[in-house]
Amino acid sequence: MNNRFRKAGMFRWTVCLWLFITPLAIADPQRYAEQNCAGCHALNEPAQEAQTLDERIGRKAPPLYYAGSKYRAEWLEQWLQNPRRIHPGGTFFGRHTVVTDDGDIIDEQALGAHLTLTAGQARDVSGYLMTLKGRKELIREGEYTPKKVSRKMGALNFGKFKGCRACHRDEEDYGGVSGPELYTAYQRLQPEYIAAYIRDPQRWDARSLMPDKHLNDKEIYKLINYLNLIGAAQ
Ligand code: HEC
Ligand code: HEC
Repeated sequence: MNNRFRKAGMFRWTVCLWLFITPLAIADPQRYAEQNCAGCHALNEPAQEAQTLDERIGRKAPPLYYAGSKYRAEWLEQWLQNPRRIHPGGTFFGRHTVVTDDGDIIDEQALGAHLTLTAGQARDVSGYLMTLKGRKELIREGEYTPKKVSRKMGALNFGKFKGCRACHRDEEDYGGVSGPELYTAYQRLQPEYIAAYIRDPQRWDARSLMPDKHLNDKEIYKLINYLNLIGAAQ
C-alpha cells in the first residue's frame, strides 16, 4: 500500500469513529434543552409578576434555571440516562393524588415516564444545565462540614422534632409524598443547596410549598448530617 492509500484508510477510520461517537452528542445543548426540556421545566427565571399561584399549580416540573446551584453534576448526568421518580406524588401532588376512604392513593399512571437521554446527550445537557446558576446569591460556599449523627437521633429529629417526614420520605416507603424524597438527597443535591433551601424555601421559590421552619444553622446542619447518613446507605 502506498502512502496515499494508507492515509485514505486512516481518514475513513476517523470518519467511521466520528460517526459512531457524534450521534450521542449534541451540537448545541442550550438549543436542545430549549426544544426538549423547556416545555415542562423553566430554564429562565419567570418575571416576578408571573410567579403566581396559578403558575405554581400549573407547573409541570421543577424549575431548572438554578440547576447549577442545586445538583451534583455527576448525579445529574447519571439521572438523565436513568431517570427515576423523585417526587412520589408528582410536582403538584394534588393533580396525581386520588382521595379514597383508605387515604390518599397516588395515581401512578397519571405521572408518566421521564424522557431518557443517551450517555452523550446526558453529558452535554447536564454540562449546560450546570452553567445555570440562578439564586447563587443564596449559596454559602463551604458552609457545611459533615459530622456523624446516630441514625436513631437523626430519624427522631427528622420526624418527631422537626416534622420533615410529614411531607418527605427518608426511606423508600416511609414518609409524606408532597415533597421530593430525601433518602437520596445527599447524592442528588449540593449540601450548600440543601442548607440554603431549608433556611428559606420562599427565597428559592416564592410559591414553594415548603414551610419556613425558622431553623438556625446548627439545626440545619444536624438535618443534613442525617441526610448524609441515609444517603450513603443507598
Ligand atoms: C413532559 C414534561 C417533561 C419534559 C419534556 C422533561 N421533563 Fe424533566 N421532569 C418532568 C417531571 C414531571 C419531573 C419530576 C419527576 C419526579 O420527580 O418524579 C421531572 C424531573 C426532572 C429532573 C429532576 C428534578 C428534581 O426533582 O430536582 C431533572 C434534572 C429533569 N427533569 C431534567 C430534564 C431535562 C434535562 C429535560 C430535557 C432533556 C427534561 N427534564 C424534559 C417533566 C419533564
Ligand atoms: C408541609 C410539607 C413540608 C414540610 C413539613 C417540609 N418540607 Fe421540604 N419540601 C416540601 C416541598 C413540597 C418541597 C419542594 C418544593 C415545592 O414543590 O414547592 C420541599 C423541598 C425541600 C428540599 C429541596 C429538595 C429539592 O429537591 O429541591 C429540601 C432539602 C427539603 N425540602 C428539606 C426539608 C426538611 C429538612 C424539612 C424539615 C425541617 C422539610 N423539608 C419540611 C414540603 C415540605
